Amino acid sequence: MGKVVILDHPLIDHKMAIIRNADTNTKSFRENVNEIAGLMAFEITRDLPTKKVEVVTPITTTTCNVLDREVVIVPILRAGLGMVDGIQMIIPTAKVGHIGMYRDEETLEPVEYYAKFPTEIIDGKVLVVDPMLATGGSASAAITNVKKRGAKDIRFVGLVGCPEGVARLNLDHPDVDIYLAALDEKLNEVGYIVPGLGDCGDRLFGTK
Ligand code: PRP
Ligand code: URA
Repeated sequence: MGKVVILDHPLIDHKMAIIRNADTNTKSFRENVNEIAGLMAFEITRDLPTKKVEVVTPITTTTCNVLDREVVIVPILRAGLGMVDGIQMIIPTAKVGHIGMYRDEETLEPVEYYAKFPTEIIDGKVLVVDPMLATGGSASAAITNVKKRGAKDIRFVGLVGCPEGVARLNLDHPDVDIYLAALDEKLNEVGYIVPGLGDCGDRLFGTK
């Protein structure tokens, strides 16, 4: 079974309190989602392979470590887009694939409407990102899709999860590690995470 890592850091906790607050406006919500994603990227990429290169400093020549693996960020549209800039601030060379998906309001089943991936998805480290892991249906379907396109090394990165979503993802994709900023209590009767932060896509883009 994949690892489930809940990132435990005062800066992340502080920013989570801001985005959970119903009074936080769209600008601040968007900024804080990106900042949390950036802070998470630091931990999630801790084990990325590096290679040695010779670098000429103003003083001498020395051996340094540089990244030896492409990173591909795959946001699940729409809300996943809110995490991309924050991660790219930390990994500017990361490529970005997109997968469009929405939950049917009645069945809560994911409906895919778009997919486009860079070729690096096959050999790179793939970060499937979506702030919300609720039933787990959208994340599971997105990961199935990137696997069909050849991805082998996949991590799921979310802000708020719940036991139902983690269980679903572990069952469907036991090879995928899950990184979350917070693991909440449960899903409510209409499929929203409790306490959660409401509808993340709507709060990011100012829709209703
Ligand atoms: C939200 C969220 C996830 C999904 C999570 O997207 O961003 O993609 O729901 O729910 P699940 O784990 O039960 O599948 P939504 O369908 O609201 O689309 P949006 O991002 O376009 O608003
Ligand atoms: N999608 C959201 O945006 N929020 C939830 O709580 C569940 C799914």
